[in-house]
Amino acid sequence: MPDIKLTNLIKKFGDVTAVDNLNVTIPDGSFFTLLGPSGCGKTTTLRMIAGLEKPTAGKIEIGKQLVFDSVTWTVVPPGKRNVGLVFQSYALWPHMTVYDNISFPLRIQKLSRDQIQKKVDGVMNQVKITGLEKRYPSELSGGQQQRVAVARELVTGVEVLSMDEPLGNLDAQLRLEMRTELKRLHKATGQTILYVTHDQLEAMTMSTHVAVMKDGLLQQLSHPDDIYASPANTFIAEFIGSLPINLFNVEVMEGIAYNNDLKLKLELPGKFKSINGKAILGIRPENLSVVNNPTKTSVLGSVDSSLPAGSEVLIKVSVGEIGLNIKEKRGMNLEMDSTVHVDLDMEEACFFDSITGNNLLTVPGEQKATKKKATAQ
Ligand SMILES: Nc1ncnc2c1ncn2[C@@H]1O[C@H](COP(=O)(O)OP(=O)(O)OP(=O)(O)O)[C@@H](O)[C@H]1O
Ligand SMILES: [Mg+2]
Repeated sequence: MPDIKLTNLIKKFGDVTAVDNLNVTIPDGSFFTLLGPSGCGKTTTLRMIAGLEKPTAGKIEIGKQLVFDSVTWTVVPPGKRNVGLVFQSYALWPHMTVYDNISFPLRIQKLSRDQIQKKVDGVMNQVKITGLEKRYPSELSGGQQQRVAVARELVTGVEVLSMDEPLGNLDAQLRLEMRTELKRLHKATGQTILYVTHDQLEAMTMSTHVAVMKDGLLQQLSHPDDIYASPANTFIAEFIGSLPINLFNVEVMEGIAYNNDLKLKLELPGKFKSINGKAILGIRPENLSVVNNPTKTSVLGSVDSSLPAGSEVLIKVSVGEIGLNIKEKRGMNLEMDSTVHVDLDMEEACFFDSITGNNLLTVPGEQKATKKKATAQ
């Protein structure tokens, strides 16, 4: 199976630049997710790779095959790119059995009955739906329908499965189950999956690589854990995470972060020794805790709200003008308007440039290796 390489890829629709000079390698066998808010260019990128949209400029290579090049005007048609598309609705034929749905593309190719049987048995085994041959789509669970849709693509020998918001119209419980299903499917087939979503939780739970986009521009490409722990800028820091990250201005001098308005004075771990001057401090709610006594990294605040939410308690504490979001373990019960010390686990903090919003410790363009290396040039 091949890597997919996008070089200086641009797509304009009139005045709108939907995809702005994208340079990305999608590694072979990865579960690669394009993530970003509505209109950031995810679908357009996927459609250009599948061959359904012609780029304005740039190059797309799938393994050794050059499928698009704006200089030589090479355009390989969708059918010859080995990229299968699984739609949101799965688009199974309701009047055909599972076997007929999967074998449909092979019958069009006029393969012999034996060849078809062998291939269909193979993919059904691969996606673990053997035994469902005679059922109709209406007699399948959502997860099984999805496997049939995937099998129908795999049977044609596609090397990449692409999916555009395939879980978009499912309820919350089913979405959760389908995420597990998709992850298992990826493990079972080893297929490269190119996945598009605006749902950060979906991206974080399934992917080996996440490419975050905004306004057509790639913001960060890395393993989901890196994106969560070391977001490349404040946009990503705020976009990722179910409870909003805490962001506030500080001035750093000789290893101490100050904010005079907040009477804040935080001693920083050695890894932040290069930081000096004005910065934005970012820290996630789970890295804050309510403590009994002041520490070298605590602030004093007043409890605005304390909301038990099953496994955890969501707390809001005002420190001057700033409202800090805190996620505590269940069982903590705080009086409203009481005064509390809040400790910040500074090992887990991030610092961003106060003007550009870029992470001060991330080298631009540097990507941390994951199991299979993610690269953005
Ligand atoms: N055929 C088109 N003609 C004109 N503009 C388009 C066309 N297709 C997309 N665009 C514009 O290009 C930009 C990117 O669109 P795209 O569909 O790739 O976004 P997206 O990230 O998939 O968003 P969503 O999450 O809403 O699906 C948007 O501003 C959109 O309006
Ligand atoms: Mg889209």
